[in-house]
Amino acid sequence: MLAKVLSGAVVGLEAVPVTVEVDIASQGLPSFTIVGLPDKAVEESRERVRSAIKNSGAEFPAKRITVNLAPADLPKVGPSYDLPIAVGILIASGQLPLVSEKELYIGELSLDGTLRHTNGILSYSLLAQALRCPRVFFPSIDSREAAIVSGIEIIPVVSLLTLFQHLHALTRIEPTKHESFEDALSEQVFDFDMADIMGQEQAKRALEIAAAGGHNVYLHGPPGSGKTLLARTLPSILPALTEEECLEVTKIYSVTGNLPAGQSLIFFRPFRAPHHTTSRIGLIGGSAHPMPGEISLAHRGVLFADEFPEFPRHVLEALRQPLEDGEVHISRASGSVTYPSKFLLVAASNPCPCGNFGSELKRCTCLPGQVRRYQLRVSGPIFDRIDLHVSVPAVSIEKLTRSYSSESSKDIKARVQSARKISLKRLSGTPFLSNGEMSSKALKTLCPLSPSVLSFLEHASHRFGFSARGFTKIIKVGRTIADLAHESEISVAHIAEALQYRGHEGVA
Ligand SMILES: Nc1ncnc2c1ncn2[C@@H]1O[C@H](COP(=O)(O)OP(=O)(O)O)[C@@H](O)[C@H]1O
Ligand SMILES: [Mg+2]
Repeated sequence: MLAKVLSGAVVGLEAVPVTVEVDIASQGLPSFTIVGLPDKAVEESRERVRSAIKNSGAEFPAKRITVNLAPADLPKVGPSYDLPIAVGILIASGQLPLVSEKELYIGELSLDGTLRHTNGILSYSLLAQALRCPRVFFPSIDSREAAIVSGIEIIPVVSLLTLFQHLHALTRIEPTKHESFEDALSEQVFDFDMADIMGQEQAKRALEIAAAGGHNVYLHGPPGSGKTLLARTLPSILPALTEEECLEVTKIYSVTGNLPAGQSLIFFRPFRAPHHTTSRIGLIGGSAHPMPGEISLAHRGVLFADEFPEFPRHVLEALRQPLEDGEVHISRASGSVTYPSKFLLVAASNPCPCGNFGSELKRCTCLPGQVRRYQLRVSGPIFDRIDLHVSVPAVSIEKLTRSYSSESSKDIKARVQSARKISLKRLSGTPFLSNGEMSSKALKTLCPLSPSVLSFLEHASHRFGFSARGFTKIIKVGRTIADLAHESEISVAHIAEALQYRGHEGVA
């Protein structure tokens, strides 16, 4: 007898349907074969399914069992086919009634028949919604992750035995309650607040501009000056994620197995701080079965690259394209995928290898030329994507204790949010969501400059000698400063402030 059970495979971040066909032949020696491009984990499914069925009190048929995962040309990865295979075998051997081919089954089995956490549940739920499946069967531990997707009934399965009883209408499993985005939303408590950072007014202001305009930032300063602290505080002033953004981010975390158990969604902007020894694949994504890297885990959040010049050149080069496009394309023999990677880059660097260059308190022990070479290790094209350069000086203890900051992240965030609203309105009808993303063409039409601003810029460019690229960045940053001030026109004062963050020519 032939049984068909609907399941799915995750390709990139999206799930696609896979039909699990189980055929049990009455003749021939007992065997158990899985075909349809299974990987090792799917192959091993045979052992898990066999034990799980036996340990659930059902009978594992001693016959010729063939399982086909269709479509056959799509590689099948991971243990999520355990449940549909087990259900298919129970149907084909007459131990379960037929199930609807519009019901989706996903889940890894343990040997005793209980269901284990399975990655990618949100993507499968969205597939079920798109296919208009009335019902899905997921491991109960993951059911909250699906609860946000409306229009489908989610049956949380604890074990094969409880599912068996449910399908025989002996004991019903209660469907998981739906949660609206607002219900699920919780208030984020940040570990770091701007109010806790003493002094560093210029750096804090720069982070406010970065948050409001989506500008990448470079923090330069000696060790201990507070660069890491500043970067870690940035998420606390970023606008809250929208529902759509939450789904995007959660899919990435779900597929990579980074979603904390029992959590429905990632509500908060991610903060990722990969070390400079992180491999190219770890940062950008890849491996035999492509997986998102740190830049995608930082999607819609912050990627903090501390000791930026220490990142290997080829890794920095690989960062270029995703920084530009907001997504990363990975092609492998098993297929090519695209992952989103729209993040705010906060790069930090000591002024030189020893860290003391320019310090009044300590002596720099670097050789001449070494300092400049250190900064030049980051190539021009990467600098092109960084609009704000901020120097973070070492502040003495006395100064730190004397200066007190009163502004909390909450107050700053409110300003950021209203500035974003203004810029979004201006950018409506374009593919850009923030000032930082604007192309030079969009900049020209959307940010006209008054004659006085133009002549001021001309003066400044003679004096500081900045390039056309530098020019563009200054106007973009000026636009964000004007948005923060709720002013429709960019003024000389806005540009004058933007000039402070322009970095050094030759580097920037
Ligand atoms: N302006 C500041 N206000 C409060 N604490 C600070 C400040 N600057 C530095 N610190 C504290 O000093 C320590 C070193 O700062 P850190 O951010 O790690 O420096 P860096 O990354 O520049 O080497 C941290 O414990 C940090 O919290
Ligand atoms: Mg640091």
